[in-house]
Amino acid sequence: MGDSDPRSFYEKLTTMVPADHYVFMNHGYFDETEGEPAVHEGFHPVHRYSVAFIEFLFRGIELEGKDLLEIGTGRGGNLSYAVKYGGVRSATGVDLSDGNIRFCQRVHSLPNMTFVQSSADDLPFDDASFDVALNLESSHSYPDVPKFFAEALRVVRPGGTFLYADNIFEDRIEHYRNAVETSGFEIVSYQEITPKVERAMKANREPLEAYLKSMIDPELDNEAFVLRLINGFNVRVYEMYRDRHAIFGFWHLKKPE
Ligand SMILES: C[S@@+](CC[C@H](N)C(=O)[O-])C[C@H]1O[C@@H](n2cnc3c(N)ncnc32)[C@H](O)[C@@H]1O
Repeated sequence: MGDSDPRSFYEKLTTMVPADHYVFMNHGYFDETEGEPAVHEGFHPVHRYSVAFIEFLFRGIELEGKDLLEIGTGRGGNLSYAVKYGGVRSATGVDLSDGNIRFCQRVHSLPNMTFVQSSADDLPFDDASFDVALNLESSHSYPDVPKFFAEALRVVRPGGTFLYADNIFEDRIEHYRNAVETSGFEIVSYQEITPKVERAMKANREPLEAYLKSMIDPELDNEAFVLRLINGFNVRVYEMYRDRHAIFGFWHLKKPE
C-alpha cells in the first residue's frame, strides 16, 4: 500500500532488493488465538505471517488438482505455497510489473507455474480458465475496480472461487464494497481482518527491519531506498491500520453455476 505509482515502485524494488527469498509482499496475518505461525520449509522465517495469511485465505478451499490464478501476484510467494503445499495442478500469476514477472520466471521455474505481465482489468486468458482465483493486497491501486471484477468473473469457471482480500482506505470503502456486491459473484462470506493484519505487522516489525537491512548492499547503492521501505512498512502503513484509516477486508466469493 502507498504505491501510488505501483509500476515504477515495483520496478525499482526489483533492482534495489533482488533477493530470491523475498517472495511475499503483503503485510501478513496473525491470529494470536492460533499461536505463533510455523516457519515453512522453502520460505524465509521473516515471511511466516505471509504464509499464515495465505493459509488463512485458503482454509476450506479445495486446491488439489485445481487451476489457480493470482491477479497481482508480486513475487509469487502465494503461488509457490499453493504448488508446494496445496497440490494445485497449475499456478498462473499476473502482475502489472515486468520486474516482478521476470523475478517470478527466474525464481519459480516449475513446469506448472506460469507468469504473465498484464493488468488486472485486462486478463490475457480465455473465459472459464481457472477453478480458483486469488487477489491479495493488490487492488487498492487499480484504476478501474469494476472492470477488474468483471475480468475475474469472466476467467473463473462456473462454481469456481474468488478469494479477494485487500486494504481499503476509509474514503474508498463504499466504492469497493459496491464493486464486490455488483460483480456477479455470490458472497460466500466476508470478514474484516484489520486487527489480525495490524498484529502481524507489529509482531514482525523487528525481524522485518533486520531482514531488509541485511540486504543493504553498496554495489546496489540501495541504503536510502531500503531505509525508506522499512519506515514505510513499520511506521506509515502500520499506523494506517492501527488508526483505522484503512480496513483490511476478505471476501470469499463464488461464481454462480
Ligand atoms: C503489495 S503487492 C502484493 C503481491 C502479492 N499478492 C503478495 O501477497 O505478496 C501488490 C502487487 O500488485 C501489483 N499490481 C498493482 N497494480 C496492478 C494492476 N493494475 N494489475 C496487476 N497487478 C497490479 C503490483 O505490481 C504488486 O506486485
